[in-house]
Amino acid sequence: MKKIVVLVSGSGSNLERIIESLAANEIQNAQIEMVIADRDCYGLTRAQNHGIAQQRIPRGKAFSQRLAAVLPPDVDLIVLAGFLSIISADLAQQYAGKIINIHPSLLPKFGGKGMWGHHVHEAVLAAGETESGATVHYVTAGIDEGEIILQQKVKITPEDTPETLAQKVHQVEYQILPQAINQVLNGTQK
Ligand code: GRF
Repeated sequence: MKKIVVLVSGSGSNLERIIESLAANEIQNAQIEMVIADRDCYGLTRAQNHGIAQQRIPRGKAFSQRLAAVLPPDVDLIVLAGFLSIISADLAQQYAGKIINIHPSLLPKFGGKGMWGHHVHEAVLAAGETESGATVHYVTAGIDEGEIILQQKVKITPEDTPETLAQKVHQVEYQILPQAINQVLNGTQK
């Protein structure tokens, strides 16, 4: 049984999708060992509701070291699902190939420092883009720079606002994150 640890900072809707995907066997032969948050957030409540162990490690300088101390030594995959702290270069190196992140844009466009949540959608609309989407990528020392695993596009219409675009992007996130997890853990693309 492969071991997954999920890191969250927000509502945890992507976490919820991973939990559903495991229950529906869309992701085979795996389970979430622990959910870790860098702040109080609804993602921790979702973990609690599903009887999944959860921990809160306050964000800040010592975060990565404290995270390293609680990660199960045989963890197979660490999933950043709406996680807002930066993983240290050391930790990214130590778990190279075992940490993935979901980002709400078509990386490498609209990634990097400050590009999270509604900031991404505002920048995409301000740039006059006609499409956006979501990307699952490996986490490396840089921000949003690792090798892309899966990406899916959404069309932008003139009526779109950051909120409506966020909703469209969330829908494709919920498709590609479970697929990416299954692909990385089991080498299968559903
Ligand atoms: C998602 O849009 C994800 O792409 C980004 O942060 C958001 C998290 O949403 N990294 P949730 O906490 O999973 O609902």
